[in-house]
Amino acid sequence: MTIQWFPGHMAKARRQVTEKLKLIDVVIELLDARLPVSSRNPMINEIIEKKPKLVLLNKADLADSDITAEWISYFQEHEDTKALAVDAQSGQGIKQIPGQCRALMQHMLQKRADKGMLPRSIRALIVGIPNVGKSSLINRLANKNMAKTGDRPGVTKAQQWIKVGSELELLDTPGILWPKFEDQQVGLKLAASGAIKDEILDFIEVALYTANYLKEYYPDRLQERYGLDELPEDKVEIIERIGEKRGCLMRGGIIDYEKACELLLREVRAGKLGQISFERPEV
Ligand code: G4P
Repeated sequence: MTIQWFPGHMAKARRQVTEKLKLIDVVIELLDARLPVSSRNPMINEIIEKKPKLVLLNKADLADSDITAEWISYFQEHEDTKALAVDAQSGQGIKQIPGQCRALMQHMLQKRADKGMLPRSIRALIVGIPNVGKSSLINRLANKNMAKTGDRPGVTKAQQWIKVGSELELLDTPGILWPKFEDQQVGLKLAASGAIKDEILDFIEVALYTANYLKEYYPDRLQERYGLDELPEDKVEIIERIGEKRGCLMRGGIIDYEKACELLLREVRAGKLGQISFERPEV
């Protein structure tokens, strides 16, 4: 998916999320576990106002698990909200979602019980930036449980709800938010992880950023994957060495720099260098 956000889009996306908020109890905010800050809409708390929120760190299979654990503590301590690591592709971790939503709504459920009212399902909306895994998660949770409940008061015919277990209902269309695009670092991290496609940013610049980041935080992985005895200081040279080792060559034996850049990005995004996180919580 190509993201081309401009103010008109952003306002529309925000309006659509605001509309859906009227129908739900809990917001499930989907972030990329490898870059929870850059994959976040900076205005999320303002947009959802006071709705309870569950943070899901998706694509946890690709992220550095120690750092993901640090992020979970971070969200719990700094935002006073529950956070879970999940993998929407394999389904890992998603069984815990209904229980966590229930925990967030304990107060409302108790109030209903005190008034002698019957318990009702908790209604949730998934929100997140493009490509973070919203559709994958909805499909996983749906598990053929799409419920046509268009006749419920206050629910337009077009809205469909997905039953997740006995106590959670999910809106079938997610709320799409936008990242903090004007920040160059955010763009580079989103591109390095594959969250935004290569037409948007110069992929050579993204590959250089990635090589430099790996040199700093995961030098052993870089050396091991590409059989480099020593890691050059210069990021351009790192790419050249990768090209050399992997036979990315043009006529006359000249290193095909672009091909080497593509190769590095493809392999990092596919997890070939192991689990990598692009952001760590500031402690
Ligand atoms: P969106 O609705 O938020 O835009 O995201 P979507 O579910 O379309 O997911 C975007 C890409 O991320 C998809 O890959 C999807 O398979 C992948 N993905 C989602 N969740 C996870 C996860 O937990 N782990 C991993 N490793 N990948 C995940 P794609 O290449 O665009 O498509 P495809 O590979 O499914 O064909």
